[in-house]
Amino acid sequence: MIISEYMKTEHRACDELFAKAEGAVIDGNFEEGEKLFTDFSDDTLRHFFKEETALFPTFENVTGMREGPTQMMRQEHEQMRDLISRMSKAIDAKDKDTYLAVAEPLMILMQQHNMKEEQMLYTMCDRSIPVDVKEETIEIMKKIRD
Ligand SMILES: [Fe+2]
Ligand SMILES: [Fe+2]
Repeated sequence: MIISEYMKTEHRACDELFAKAEGAVIDGNFEEGEKLFTDFSDDTLRHFFKEETALFPTFENVTGMREGPTQMMRQEHEQMRDLISRMSKAIDAKDKDTYLAVAEPLMILMQQHNMKEEQMLYTMCDRSIPVDVKEETIEIMKKIRD
């Protein structure tokens, strides 16, 4: 289950940053909120990039499933990118109400997305991809920086 473990750890870390950023914004601490939100946004977008450029293509090549779950996940990444960019503008403008209003649908979408990946896609990756290819894919993902 090496893919699941690596990817789940990143989901948890992003969830934690999301919650901390929200807490800071609720307290009206925009300086701290902006720092935490930027970390959340950088880490989340990097995680999407790892999936789209390394994990998903490997899964598609091994299984031949190109139009299935990975396409749905890519579409959800686009929806989340849009919400993250709206939150980024809101925090730049110190607009607490808009930030919190957009944070809510993002959190719901992110929880559902991560659950689908963890319960379905990553499990399928761990079952179908040969061990050496999984290790190689993780090495590639570890090297991806901003
Ligand atoms: Fe994803
Ligand atoms: Fe993910």
